[in-house]
Amino acid sequence: MSIKNICQISVTNRQQVFQVPRGEPLLMAMAKLSQRAIHVGCRGGGCGLCKVKVLQGDYQTKRMSKAHISEEEAAMGFALACRLTPLSDLELESDHFQLRKQQIQQAI
Ligand code: FES
Repeated sequence: MSIKNICQISVTNRQQVFQVPRGEPLLMAMAKLSQRAIHVGCRGGGCGLCKVKVLQGDYQTKRMSKAHISEEEAAMGFALACRLTPLSDLELESDHFQLRKQQIQQAI
């Protein structure tokens, strides 16, 4: 069985599909391709702008701030794209940071 060196990333809410090298942090690989499917901020896990929800696929993450990703959210597939490394093709939703801001504005 061979392991694919390329992972296909489908960002469903933006209708964008692109390929990144397996084992490279998603946000950095995406930025190299000039893709804009996920918001890019600090690139270090501090701002939460790159929050995504993985709908399908395997991935690993480095430590993520609980201020942006709670344990419950991590269990549901939420992650920071700058801390996420794809291990297979992924299907995900971006803009979750923006959605939270919109929800707060709607509540005011
Ligand atoms: S870009 Fe800031 S947390 Fe990912």
